[in-house]
Amino acid sequence: MSRVEVRTAAVIGAGNMGSGIAQKIATEGIPVILVDLDDEKVQRGLGIIRKTLEEGVERRIFRAAQVEEILGRIRGTADWSTLEEADLVIEAVFEDLKVKQDVFRRLGEVCRPEAILGTNTSSFYVRDLAAVTPHPERVVGLHYFYHPAKNRLVEVVAHDGTSDEAFQAAWAFQEMIGKTPIRSADAPGFVVNRYFVPWLNEAVRLLEEGVADIPTIEAAAKEAFRIGMGPFELMNVTGVPIALHAATTLGRELGAFYEPAEALRRQVEAGKPWSLEGEADASRFQGVSDRLLGVVFYVAARLVEEGVATVEDTDIGARVGLRWAHGPFELINTTGVRRSAELAGSVVTPYGLEVPPLLTRADERVGIPIRLVTVGQRGRLTSVWIQRPDAMNALNPAVARQLQDALQAARSRGGPGIVLGGSGKAFVAGADIKFFVDHLKAGTFEEIQRFTEEGQEILRGLSGQEPPVVARVQGLALGGGAELALACDWIAASPKACFGFPETGIGIYPGLGGTQRLPRRIGLPLAKYLIYTGQVLGAEEARALGLVDALVPFAGLDEACEELAGRGPAPERRAPEAPGDAAWQPLWDFFARWSVDQILAGEADTGGDSRLEKAVQKMRGRSAFALRLAEKLLERSAELPLEAGLQEELAHLREVFAFPDALEGLSSVLERRRPVFATDAPSGA
Ligand SMILES: NC(=O)c1ccc[n+]([C@@H]2O[C@H](COP(=O)([O-])OP(=O)(O)OC[C@H]3O[C@@H](n4cnc5c(N)ncnc54)[C@H](O)[C@@H]3O)[C@@H](O)[C@H]2O)c1
Repeated sequence: MSRVEVRTAAVIGAGNMGSGIAQKIATEGIPVILVDLDDEKVQRGLGIIRKTLEEGVERRIFRAAQVEEILGRIRGTADWSTLEEADLVIEAVFEDLKVKQDVFRRLGEVCRPEAILGTNTSSFYVRDLAAVTPHPERVVGLHYFYHPAKNRLVEVVAHDGTSDEAFQAAWAFQEMIGKTPIRSADAPGFVVNRYFVPWLNEAVRLLEEGVADIPTIEAAAKEAFRIGMGPFELMNVTGVPIALHAATTLGRELGAFYEPAEALRRQVEAGKPWSLEGEADASRFQGVSDRLLGVVFYVAARLVEEGVATVEDTDIGARVGLRWAHGPFELINTTGVRRSAELAGSVVTPYGLEVPPLLTRADERVGIPIRLVTVGQRGRLTSVWIQRPDAMNALNPAVARQLQDALQAARSRGGPGIVLGGSGKAFVAGADIKFFVDHLKAGTFEEIQRFTEEGQEILRGLSGQEPPVVARVQGLALGGGAELALACDWIAASPKACFGFPETGIGIYPGLGGTQRLPRRIGLPLAKYLIYTGQVLGAEEARALGLVDALVPFAGLDEACEELAGRGPAPERRAPEAPGDAAWQPLWDFFARWSVDQILAGEADTGGDSRLEKAVQKMRGRSAFALRLAEKLLERSAELPLEAGLQEELAHLREVFAFPDALEGLSSVLERRRPVFATDAPSGA
């Protein structure tokens, strides 16, 4: 496991990609050196960054003061000797092998031997750049997507000689700066371009064969892949020559099926964008989408068979990098594997290619298994990882089922401990709201009951036995995610971790043990405060209150997990009798004294304390019905053993979900609006 910490990063090439990569790194608080050929080019790059950030201010993504702070972390220079300071260097110069090899030769001379060297190349093998450096084992591919400060996807590429340590450190750095990394082998087009470029190319073939015109292909593609722009518009935006260049490279490496369509060459020669004018002909949609899907199905299955990437990473790549609603394998499963094989076959047979066995051998009823939770190794601990980074690892029945299986598999491995984590920016951002809304609308509450019961069962198995389970919280842990962490033996957090219980604000209460385990961690009054108000605790506050067992910099998180696992299973927790931090005494006293009804009726005396005033204000915007039920359950935590308290949570589930506030609150999240709750809510007690 990596223990390499990136304190200073560097980017070579301050063009479109390099400037964006440097911007993202600096935005996340890390100093970055930005190198180009001369001062003028450096200044141009810095200008691009300033302009993008200022647009961000207009769109209220950044405050004006932040722009200067971010720029202050970027040191633009043409002086290579500064690179001695860098722990990680990312090359983003022209896509020319000789130029890139020269850069890597020079990096080999000026960088410290332990520095990690990454390349953003789109079309060369990483190994061909590694070969010219004295430490090829420290070279990785880091393939970002335009715009690199906005598109979260990055393909982290290991060539055959890349060391595990370098790979892990490069990967961890991407997570630290809020990227969603996927792993790729050192193969042509890596993961996403391998199917995306043929998809663009197939659109041109459809045009040139007269199957459909451009507006029809655009409309059919948008419908089939649920995307905002079709292939021709995308080529216009990113540059038609780039599509031609990418297809030419793939064709050279992988054969005729990947070679660019003639019409694509002609369009580039004409030096014009595609004309998107005209009316779509819906009668031709099926023919178009079958071809586009067939291409994607073939390539996705091939690249997985070749070991370029996993099924899961292939899908994440499409959802995060291309913003498709579903990844290739999800599309294969909804289309049906047999039909998918037929579609793939009709596209590739003319090129003398065979349908990948992954498609022909898959079980029609099961489809291609997609793992949402994986079991692996992280340092000395067995890892159980939730892998839905684009859905912030939200819990739904499929995730819950796989989590159960993964935990069982991890337990059977034995070893010193299990680390439970989530990929991407969030630990687990809660439960899948759509699942609840769908079942409430369909009148199938039993499904919600079953999901919650099974969820409780899984969480029950997370503590008190060997090997111990440590929650590794590196980002958002909200609702069900916070409850998941609380159910583990130990919680390790890094500075971006945060914890919150938003449920009463959406008409429900925490039903996965939150009303029972939180008071046992931080005391009943403060548990009331958090659950009544939805106030989110930062990592430092969570540590001060005893909600987390260790708070360390991101780079030390895995080590902290090992250290906590070394303590063995956690003993049963007893609610503390005073706040973990004296600054919280007024909140403690207030919530120890006043009931929900007294607070809502304005009878509770805040003494003018602004934090208390704010808390009261927050409660007024929430569901009174849910608040009262939450209060009742929280109170019970002080009287009942944990297990009986958990049963109480389940016992009131129907009541809270049957009350209109639940559907209103949950729907409001999906509809991105403020909920309107019943004002004369009957007492839940
Ligand atoms: N543009 C995209 O959508 C995209 C997406 C993924 C990857 N890439 C890859 O990113 C890399 C950069 O692409 P770009 O679009 O930013 O190109 P660009 O032309 O905008 O920028 C390249 C920059 O590198 C600088 N440069 C050239 N030689 C240099 C050297 N020896 N030392 C220092 N600086 C040098 C140039 O002055 C220029 O500022 C390429 O490898 C490309 O394939 C591009």
